[in-house]
Order: sequence, then structure tokens, then C-alpha cells
Amino acid sequence: MSAKILDGNAIARTARSRLKADVDRRLAAGERPPGLAVILVGNDPASEIYVKAKRRDCEEVGFHSNVQHLSANITQADLEERVEALNTDVSIDGILVQSPLPDHIDENRIIDLIDPLKDVDGFHPYNIGRLALRRPSIRSCTPMGIMQLLEHTGVAIRGLEATVIGASNHVGRPMGLELLLAGCTVTTAHKFSRDTESCARRADILVSAVGKPGLVPGNWVKPGAIVIDVGMTRDENGKLHGDVVFDDAREVASWITPVPGGVGPMTRVAMLQNTFAAAEHALDIPDRR
Ligand code: GUN
Repeated sequence: MSAKILDGNAIARTARSRLKADVDRRLAAGERPPGLAVILVGNDPASEIYVKAKRRDCEEVGFHSNVQHLSANITQADLEERVEALNTDVSIDGILVQSPLPDHIDENRIIDLIDPLKDVDGFHPYNIGRLALRRPSIRSCTPMGIMQLLEHTGVAIRGLEATVIGASNHVGRPMGLELLLAGCTVTTAHKFSRDTESCARRADILVSAVGKPGLVPGNWVKPGAIVIDVGMTRDENGKLHGDVVFDDAREVASWITPVPGGVGPMTRVAMLQNTFAAAEHALDIPDRR
């Protein structure tokens, strides 16, 4: 068996063209374009690449974008002031503070400060809490993008065994909550798990979000499983590697995401979808139009 490839680039492209049409309809109705603010602190090369891509995505779908590239030496108070200004900026529907932040910045305090209605990363405790309580509002982008990939397979996932490897705040935890909401039986394996292999082997849906190339060998994959690889580790030559041994896993799985071109583009498009939804929601709030 050779797995079908979940082509995130193609699926995201279709989603962006739908969004562009939605933006055009909005503009034709006399409304302003959705606005995304991105704050980048310091000069992390990977973050600079991600932020450039976000700006390009905004242009493609017709969003207004406001990218603020700030010094690595910015103080906590100054950064908080920037976020507060964006919270009250009526041209901005989504605020994204690119992580990682420098060590002297308390990232949790920054996330807590973002207006939950503008938290298009879906990282704010309010939005994670909504998801945990089965009343999702703004959803974390990577899990949201992955749920769209799963939808694309056409497989009915309610009742399936799902294993998530990795328990980060940004991916592993909200991923488990999304799969639980969809009716899966969810296992989260993490760095203290004693037998990650057996957790993986029973999974009909296997999501690996660790960032360790080769972590998931082909023989950890249940025959016919859907394999989602969130890992993105750059080697010394700049080549990206996932967590899963792709060539072996694809012989066993039914569907599999490539790296690059699987989850990454879906994360980006989910952020655009969240921004559009936030902009539409703002139309119902009189002082935000
Ligand atoms: N750093 C890498 N990916 C992301 C993301 O999706 N959102 C934020 N805020 N920072 C990131």
C-alpha cells in the first residue's frame, strides 16, 4: 500500500482563493478589508521567513497587514504598550506576536494581554478554554489546519483512535482537544511517556508534533492510519525534515502529509481564516466597524 499524499499546498491554495472571494464580497458591500498585525521581535531568521510569508499571504487575499519589526532589546512594558494599541486599533482584526520571543520577555503575559477576539493564533487562555469546553471560538491555527486536512481525506473520524505525540501549548494540547471534540479517543504522548511506540501503533490518526527527525519510524504506523507530521526541523543545509520517516511510513499509511508542503501551509491559511472571521465578527460590534 502506498499512502495518498495530503497536499497542504494545494488545499491551502484553494482555501486562499475562497477567502479572496469572501474579501471581495466584503469590499463590494462597502466594508474595510480585514486587518492583521504581526509583531516580530528580534532577528530570528526562521521567524523572519514566517513573517514574510504571512505578509505575502495577506496581500494575496486582500487583507490589510501591519508588520512591526521590533528590536530584540524592547522592554516588556514597551511590547505590552504595542499590543494594547493594537487591541484598540479599529483597522486591526487579528494580532499575532511571533514566537519565540527573547528570554527577557514574559510570553504568557503578552498572550494574556491580546484581546481574545483578536487572538488569531488561538493561544489566549479564553480561546483554549472555549475549545476545552466544546464551545470553540478562535481555534489554534495548526490544529485547525490539520482538522481541515483530515476533512479532506473524507474519512469519518468519530470514534477513531487518535494519538498526538507532543504536548505543547501551541500544537499538542489544542490538537488533542480538537480531536476529542471530533469524537476521537485521544491519547497524548509526551516526553515523560513510558511507551510512546505503543500509543503510536494503536492510532488510526497519528499526529507527531515534536520536532525530532526520525522520531516516528515506519513500523510505529498502524496499517491504514492517517499520518500527520507537524515536525519542521531545518538541517545544516537548510532542508526541512519532519518527525516521521516518510518513505517507510507511506508504505503503511492510508494518507500522509509531506514535509514541507503538508501542515505548514494549512497553519498559515488557518490564521487568515481566523482573521477573516474576526473581521466579520467585528461588524457586529458597533465601535469596531
Ligand atoms: N512561531 C512559529 N509559528 C508560529 C505561529 O503560528 N504563531 C506565532 N505567534 N508564532 C509562531
